[in-house]
Amino acid sequence: RFFRNLWRVTYLSVLFSVGYTGYLIWDLRNPAEQVDPDPTKKTLVVLGTGWGSVSLLKNLDTENYNVVVVSPRNFFLFTPLLPSCTTGTIEHRSIMEPIRNILRHKKASVKFYEAECTKIDYEKRVVYAKDDSDVKGDTMSTEIPFDMLVVGVGAENATFGIPGVREHACFLKEVGDAQKIRKQIMDCVETATFKDQSPEEVKRLLHMVVVGGGPTGVEFAGELQDFFQEDLLKWVPQIKDDFHVTLVEALPNVLPMFSKQLIEYTESSFKEEHIDIRTKTMVKNVTDKYIEAEVNKPDGTKEIEKIPYGLLVWATGNALRSVVKDLMSQIPAQAKARRGLEVNEYLVVNGAENIWAVGDCAVANYAPTAQVAAQEGAFLARLFNTMAKTDAIEAELQELSAKQATANPDDRKVILAEISERQKQLRRVKQIGPFSYSHQGSLAYIGAEKAVADVSWFSGNIASGGTMTYLFWKSAYLSMCFSTRNRVLVLFDWVKAKFFGRDVSRE
Ligand code: FAD
Ligand code: NAI
Repeated sequence: RFFRNLWRVTYLSVLFSVGYTGYLIWDLRNPAEQVDPDPTKKTLVVLGTGWGSVSLLKNLDTENYNVVVVSPRNFFLFTPLLPSCTTGTIEHRSIMEPIRNILRHKKASVKFYEAECTKIDYEKRVVYAKDDSDVKGDTMSTEIPFDMLVVGVGAENATFGIPGVREHACFLKEVGDAQKIRKQIMDCVETATFKDQSPEEVKRLLHMVVVGGGPTGVEFAGELQDFFQEDLLKWVPQIKDDFHVTLVEALPNVLPMFSKQLIEYTESSFKEEHIDIRTKTMVKNVTDKYIEAEVNKPDGTKEIEKIPYGLLVWATGNALRSVVKDLMSQIPAQAKARRGLEVNEYLVVNGAENIWAVGDCAVANYAPTAQVAAQEGAFLARLFNTMAKTDAIEAELQELSAKQATANPDDRKVILAEISERQKQLRRVKQIGPFSYSHQGSLAYIGAEKAVADVSWFSGNIASGGTMTYLFWKSAYLSMCFSTRNRVLVLFDWVKAKFFGRDVSRE
């Protein structure tokens, strides 16, 4: 009897779980009808669909504003797994989430324009947007007026004006960059194995140079060496002695934001994996076949060295976008700002009213990371939701005050009690404190199924590196993926790469 009951309970729970999951999927595919935006409400324009802006949109009560989103990218990109797309460990679409899906699930509808904001006119309160996509209609540019503006346009790749970088190097910021690198790796391999290729040319073509020893450069170098060890060696064994990854860094060590112990661990792990690290080496010039770098020798002298390459990946950090530079030039309080829009503790752009900035384009004394951008976006959503509630309560208070002035003594008592209740509510709502960042730690994949992590734990810090940290890295990023769809796709990609290997065809 016990087993019969157990069987019934199990059967019913499985039936319930399947039904509930089915309902959730149905609900995801069939969002509820949306309320139209109210034209009397303020227009909130959000620039960008990256970490900062999407976190804001996800948490914002859109029925309180007329929300307009402008971005040249109609998707959110989960950047932490982008280095894995360069070798095909993960397919790029697995880490993209269409912005339309995100916006369609909001209560009130949001307008989205796939366009680049070319200028923000602070005085006129207008942003100018230009359709930069391949397909153009009769209208290619427009003006969008705003009452409130959130700038979340991120940053572009820093090149420090070094000649040849833009012409010859690949960057690693966008999906297109990862696709270009993937194609070029295979092009180098196929060209190196072309009949009668000279040994020097084979060596050059198979020399993969990564400039910049920050986390982007380190993660990419690790992924590339994995690709070589796990797949390329099997399918193209003749490149065994010539394929080589070199990481070039101007400072004395890589990963400066990690603890000393993890820097040493990464450097020794790269040595074991046969990835060359060239520290104290600053690239000064780039040609189509080699880079010229200034090398600081142990005796204190400097030497210019030519390093031939087949693939060059440039990962030397962030620079300001022109639209941000232009906005800064319109605001006198930003005259001294160099690294981005300086903001106050409520993320308001210093010297500007009703303009906020989040993420890599804002300077708030935090590192330009996804973690910071996401927390800033969520904070702004809370702030805007609160501001809308405050406006509503203040309007009610005004109405009640007018009523009480003409009311009879009995009604006045009731109205006064209501006013007092609303005032209390207003005080509670207004209690939103300034933005404060909570650092959860730093994680980076370093290849050969190893990762490094500096994780905050209560009031202390835990530094760890190795295979267990790699499993932690995997589970942390899997759980942080934007949607269940992304999580399932990433998981499938990992399993696929493990069982069948990465795809070595050149698209
Ligand atoms: P972004 O996410 O870059 O978004 C900017 C948005 O603005 C994009 O949608 C873009 O299309 C849009 N845009 C650009 N120009 C305009 C314009 N003129 N008008 C309108 N819209 C515009 N951080 C971590 O914390 N952990 C990690 O593991 C990590 N890994 C990373 C790996 C890589 C390869 C890279 C490149 C970065 C990584 N980062 C990581 C850093 C993180 O991605 C950035 O800090 C984060 O993306 C910043 O968010 P953002 O919203 O400011 O900008
Ligand atoms: P970065 O700014 O962290 O590192 C760039 C590196 O390039 C620096 O170490 C610099 O010394 C070096 N460099 C600059 N010019 C050079 C030259 N001419 N020659 C040789 N070396 C040169 O840049 P990165 O890695 O692109 O990261 C950007 C931001 O994104 C950082 O804030 C980083 O923390 C974040 N990020 C975080 C990740 C993670 O947490 N796993 C992964 C990737 C990025």
